[in-house]
Amino acid sequence: MILHIAALLFAQASGGIPSSGNVLATPAPTATLDPSFATHPSANDLKEGQQLFNVHCASCHGLYMEGSPQAPPLADTDAGNVDFMLRTGRMPAERPFIQEFDRQPMFSEPQIQSIVDYVMSKSAGDKVLPSVPVPGNLEHGRRVWEENCEMCHASTAHGNSVGYREVAPDLMDASPIQIAEAVRMGPSVMPQFGPKVIDNASLSDVITYIEYLQHAKYNPGGLQLANLGPVAEGFVGWIVGMGLLVLLVRRIGSTE
Ligand code: HEC
Ligand code: HEC
Repeated sequence: MILHIAALLFAQASGGIPSSGNVLATPAPTATLDPSFATHPSANDLKEGQQLFNVHCASCHGLYMEGSPQAPPLADTDAGNVDFMLRTGRMPAERPFIQEFDRQPMFSEPQIQSIVDYVMSKSAGDKVLPSVPVPGNLEHGRRVWEENCEMCHASTAHGNSVGYREVAPDLMDASPIQIAEAVRMGPSVMPQFGPKVIDNASLSDVITYIEYLQHAKYNPGGLQLANLGPVAEGFVGWIVGMGLLVLLVRRIGSTE
């Protein structure tokens, strides 16, 4: 009987994915966006987008988005790509062909929208932004993360070098939109994950899991154990399990 309890405890505590109703309470992600805004822009919007583009982008990408030695053409780029580049402050680039990092965006939300709209009025790429239905399933999100993302961004999402002077960045400030766009667009050496590899439900799950990691970082105390991952959880299981075993052994020993 005691052995049974010990075994149960051990199995529970050492499992990588905790069972339901546990400490992995989901913080509710908030931001969502209209996935199709780039498909029906107004004339004013396009005009503003064109002005911004000519001032901030054309010097590298060309007035007609034809590209230049400084930057690739944008004739086939997807809305999600443009939005991601602007939203994460990667564009306008400071210098051509140097890895761009997440920075404070140069443009306001409506400005981003009009630049995306203007570029997409010329580009043959996909005009619909990746949609982000959140929150999803936290436990499944953790599995998606472990299978597809952890090897580059590290298990805690604090980032890592991936060679060739490229860095998989810290994701502590990545918003749901940025994550969805990065997964679907595959910036730089990050692979592009299409819906066959990560479907929309799984995308929403992994976003939820990343938000959980962010939440754990910004709210230390109380739930620290979960933050440390399966090794620490297993270790606690080991101690509790061993304690019970020792008790059992002593009991058996003393009855003789
Ligand atoms: C200093 C030159 C420079 C400026 C200015 C610049 N870009 Fe770029 N852009 C680049 C380079 C170089 C790349 C490719 C390398 C990379 O992804 O960092 C790029 C890539 C992109 C991409 C991804 C293209 C693709 O299909 O992969 C988009 C979208 C983009 N830029 C949009 C913009 C927009 C919009 C602006 C203006 C707000 C802008 N860029 C300003 C140099 C520039
Ligand atoms: C092969 C390594 C690799 C894998 C696997 C990978 N990434 Fe990335 N990721 C990168 C690199 C490198 C960048 C930076 C790209 C750049 O320079 O623009 C990046 C950028 C990102 C960004 C943008 C962060 C920012 O700056 O705002 C997000 C979000 C992201 N990755 C999420 C994910 C998720 C989620 C997965 C799993 C589904 C994943 N990545 C898998 C290498 C990887």
